[in-house]
Amino acid sequence: MSNVHVIDHPLVQHKLTLMRKKEASTNSFRRLLNELAMLMAYEVTRDMAMQEVQIETPLETMTAKVIDGKKLVFVSILRAGTGILDGMLSVVPGARVGHIGLYRDPKTLTAVEYYFKMPQNMHDRDVVVVDPMLATGNSAIAAVERLKELQPKSIKFVCLLTCPEGVAALQQAHPDVPIYTAAIDRQLDEHGYILPGLGDAGDRIFGTK
Ligand code: URA
Repeated sequence: MSNVHVIDHPLVQHKLTLMRKKEASTNSFRRLLNELAMLMAYEVTRDMAMQEVQIETPLETMTAKVIDGKKLVFVSILRAGTGILDGMLSVVPGARVGHIGLYRDPKTLTAVEYYFKMPQNMHDRDVVVVDPMLATGNSAIAAVERLKELQPKSIKFVCLLTCPEGVAALQQAHPDVPIYTAAIDRQLDEHGYILPGLGDAGDRIFGTK
């Protein structure tokens, strides 16, 4: 699992545990996801290219670092990706945002695309795809496949939780795409849910069901 980064920072793990609890309210689930996404953004952007620029402080001129190149793109897989997107945008407010609408066919568990909207000049940009749950891997694989048509500079995938089946599926289809996650849970059940997991992320973020 060389291309999988489990972010086992105590703050990340503590917040994830609170989110897993079935009694966590919609309000606290959403707030915790937001905070977790900020912490994960910190890790996923660690290797961003920098350039040096001349600036003037109130006291003198100096050479200082800024992020290089065209703005990063966060691509949110609708609808649950929105929960991670909001937190990431609070840390990288200048990032561009793309959306992919995919729903999971409840019978076949395959991904069906209904929406796709990306910023311009994707070939000059680094992409971070966000979706809280990497379960069967079908949505992630379909999203990455579609994005690769636009030939971005790089693609990373960020989820909150995954399982061995999801990691294996995404890595087999797209071995060049690193996965960032807070935990790899035990297994997938026959309905495509992660166990022990946290339930349906979309329902918990939006208070639906
Ligand atoms: N999607 C979810 O929201 N939860 C799971 O456990 C699996 C997929």
